[in-house]
Amino acid sequence: MGRFLVMLTAAAAVVACSVATVMVRRRIKRRRKWRKVVGILRDLEESCETPLGRLRQMVDAIAVEMQAGLVSEGGSKLKMLLTFVDDLPNGSERGTYYALHLGGSYFRMIRVYLTGQRSSLEVQDVERHSIPTSLLNSTSEVLFDFLASSLQGFIEKEGDTSNLSQFVKRELAFTFSFPVKQTSISSGVLIKWTKGFAISEMAGEDIAECLQGALNRRGLDIHVAALVNDTVGALSFGHYHDPDTIAAVVFGTGSNACYLERTDAIIKCQNPRTTSGSMVVNMEWGNFWSSRLPRTRYDVELDAESLNSNDMGFEKMIGGMYLGDIVRRVILRMSQESDVFGPISSILLTPFVLRTNSVSAMHEDDTPELQEVARILKDLGVSEVPMKVRKLVMKICDVVTRRAARLAAAGVAGILKKVGRDGSGGGRRRSDKQMMRRTVVAVEGGLYSNYKMFREYMDEALREILGEDVAQHVVIKAMEDGSSIGSALLLASSHSVRTIPPV
Ligand code: BGC
Repeated sequence: MGRFLVMLTAAAAVVACSVATVMVRRRIKRRRKWRKVVGILRDLEESCETPLGRLRQMVDAIAVEMQAGLVSEGGSKLKMLLTFVDDLPNGSERGTYYALHLGGSYFRMIRVYLTGQRSSLEVQDVERHSIPTSLLNSTSEVLFDFLASSLQGFIEKEGDTSNLSQFVKRELAFTFSFPVKQTSISSGVLIKWTKGFAISEMAGEDIAECLQGALNRRGLDIHVAALVNDTVGALSFGHYHDPDTIAAVVFGTGSNACYLERTDAIIKCQNPRTTSGSMVVNMEWGNFWSSRLPRTRYDVELDAESLNSNDMGFEKMIGGMYLGDIVRRVILRMSQESDVFGPISSILLTPFVLRTNSVSAMHEDDTPELQEVARILKDLGVSEVPMKVRKLVMKICDVVTRRAARLAAAGVAGILKKVGRDGSGGGRRRSDKQMMRRTVVAVEGGLYSNYKMFREYMDEALREILGEDVAQHVVIKAMEDGSSIGSALLLASSHSVRTIPPV
């Protein structure tokens, strides 16, 4: 009996030992896998680093590229497009004007009524709709017929609220958020599509004519009288309310900036035909490129798989269309190289399934259990993740968004440098900086207005780059619908002959 007991005890000890060994092995394996994802996170952090020195290099590179793009056509990846806008609205405009805005994800229609007094600007009607995804790779005819029919619906709804007699021709500004080589304020040809649009036969087509044709086919008595990039609309709106506004930036699905330039600095344009001595230049900064940009393997993959690879490299790092997909790619890699996210979700394999608004919701999740992170991961087919994995996802969102915001700030500082408003031109003495002129940069777009962390990181980086002495003279003004309203204002101001003050 005693012997039997000894054998039983020994057997139990052996079993306990092997269970313990299995558990220890499992724990070691789990730790190794966790270390693996932590390693992936560290790599991401390192390759996204944007210390002040690097940001300053970006600022210099942007200012240099701006200059090169102004000297000759094709002289830089920054296209520095002429807009033929030398007359920004100032509040004295009158009349009823319309704007139709084709953006990256939405289109908007608005009607404004102007009485000649800035304070009484009346946005009488505004309608926003998502762009049906089927339009993105449809045909020119389908796209413009869709826009014309939406506008027809908008006008039919207004009844007699528009202050316009039914016999008056309506004047429309077309805010078109894609790169256009303008030939006048009301005409221009599409250079290329961005932000996932891919209607092939349209490059080289006159955009205003395409819309006018579609409106005519429907018998609508509307005149497409201005063709305006969204950044230029935003600048007009900003300038209407605050004449110190000299630049505008859009942080939305895509990203871009425009600013007021002296015509004598636009060397590539022999005869700019402006009376004010200034012209708004559409930078198309989404295409900015420098080998010093902090690029990761995820950016490289995203670019290679995109419809416009080797193009719009800066936009792909800072645009709202792309941030979600960078985060998705990091999570996917982690889930492929370890099992911390459970079995690989097929949803996660789908490009652009994770939108930037979900990234901001996860990043800004302040619930104690990070329920928002858990909910969004569940939508991506990843359920039941422990707290430390939720925190990991939050950190990925932070790294990707912080890099975007800091690069965006370098872009803004680059413009300020180019126009001599960054405090570096006049002199380094404190008194020079105190003499600086107030400078306003209008900012529009959901990424800036809806994503608090992006906004905070960007504002912080701009202060870091400029230093407090200079930063106190620079005002970043967020606007909503500014680019659509501003285009209508621009159209109104092009009907009265005035000039903008010299920059
Ligand atoms: C376009 C720009 C536009 C920006 C913001 C970019 O993809 O190329 O023209 O201003 O998006 O909408």
